Amino acid sequence: MDDKYYESIIKILDYIDEGIQIIDDKGRIIYYNKAARLFDGIEGETALGRHILEIYPSLSYETSTLIQSMETMSTIMDKEQVFINYKGDHITTINSSFPIKAGKKIVGAVEVSKNITQVKALSEKIVHLQSTLHKPGVKNQNVRTNEKYTFMDIIGQTNEMLKLKTLAFKASQSDSPVMIGGNTGTGKELFVQAIHYASNRKDKPFIAQNCAALPVNLLESMLFGSVRGSFTGAENRPGLFELADGGTLFLDEINSMPLELQAKLLRAIQNNNIRRVGATSTIDVDVRIIAAFNTDINEILSSGQMRKDLFYRLNVITLIIPDLKDRKDDIPLLVKFFIEKYNKKRNKFITDLSNEVTDIFMRYDWPGNVRELEHTIEGIASIYDIDIIREEHLPYQFKTLNKKSAPIKINKIKPMKEALLEAEKKLIVDALQSSNQNISQASKLLKIPRQTLQYRIKKLEIHF
Ligand SMILES: Nc1ncnc2c1ncn2[C@@H]1O[C@H](COP(=O)(O)OP(=O)(O)OP(=O)(O)O)[C@@H](O)[C@H]1O
Ligand SMILES: [Mg+2]
Repeated sequence: MDDKYYESIIKILDYIDEGIQIIDDKGRIIYYNKAARLFDGIEGETALGRHILEIYPSLSYETSTLIQSMETMSTIMDKEQVFINYKGDHITTINSSFPIKAGKKIVGAVEVSKNITQVKALSEKIVHLQSTLHKPGVKNQNVRTNEKYTFMDIIGQTNEMLKLKTLAFKASQSDSPVMIGGNTGTGKELFVQAIHYASNRKDKPFIAQNCAALPVNLLESMLFGSVRGSFTGAENRPGLFELADGGTLFLDEINSMPLELQAKLLRAIQNNNIRRVGATSTIDVDVRIIAAFNTDINEILSSGQMRKDLFYRLNVITLIIPDLKDRKDDIPLLVKFFIEKYNKKRNKFITDLSNEVTDIFMRYDWPGNVRELEHTIEGIASIYDIDIIREEHLPYQFKTLNKKSAPIKINKIKPMKEALLEAEKKLIVDALQSSNQNISQASKLLKIPRQTLQYRIKKLEIHF
């Protein structure tokens, strides 16, 4: 590669959030970017040319993913590593390491790492908070946690919704596991909570955990707890299974749970007991599992993202919530419900939608489902002091819709690249608006990874 390109690539590497490090075949550090320098606590270029274990004395030949990747000549993906940096801070990273080859010879290794120290600290704090909230003997009724939803809060009178509510109510009166499917914003969590609070476990804990948000080791110790010394920084700590004892554990995005953990989960459900990470004995637990997934049920099985045995163990009662566009008769009811809700919250006096807006709402696809509808009304109620919601009050994504029947007019032919970038920008802006500027939800709507979306937002200079 030409030197001038090389220089700019190296410069760009200083602007990304992931740490990048390269070692040579002797294990000496030959490159690290700014992010790596920051979370490793290294000043300037002091680590260049020095052996990796000299800079990271808390690591060893066996635990350093960079060295292991070079020694085994293989790629190591998404491995958690805990080390103590030069300043004495405990740092947890998720690393992917790749050997660098020149011909047949291995000449070094490169590693990309994500610092998850804060995520880890936060998740430990959550477990701790949950454990104080649900201390045995202390009734949790006085403690206001997040909003509690009941069947009363589920709005919907179309046949599909009525059938679903009846089925969900029956499920609440049994102790069987339940699987809930549906796209983003269709109301999965609403149903899960309604089931818990209508069941005879209602005075016991309701604990929700997203299985996609955390790396495997962390999720394992969150769910099952840990024993002091079983891994660096491990403490004697109960997991969510123990904390949810007697109550309900909601495992959201179960289809994203790493396969090896799915085996452990299945064992826990079948035996009604768990083993803390690093422990030799088991602890009995009585937990009702409700799991949610957000992809097509057939795809889950055919793609192998879920173990079949676990799937059939959990899939005793299945509820699939349809998209809002497939139950449009519920839209007027939901609109009325959210108008009343946000009138009260924002002290407004909105009475209705104009006929045009009703028409637009009935034609719109609602990719963000009920959540998008709720945010649309909430947004309007926050900005305007009006009684009727008219077209001009609607956010951006509805603007083009009314011109739908008009023939497509192309004003000016633009270079393809420019036109595609514009289209991409518009799509992202629309997705962000539909999800109330929440990047995670927007990425779900666009069906792209969150990091990719973040990168595109930066790159296309989208301000929101
Ligand atoms: N039938 C409904 N009646 C009233 N409010 C609803 C209904 N369905 C969804 N909502 C509201 O829409 C929002 C999104 O619902 P919820 O969090 O349950 O969606 P979800 O299916 O879990 O989405 P995701 O997959 O993105 O987590 C919530 O504020 C919820 O109160
Ligand atoms: Mg949810």
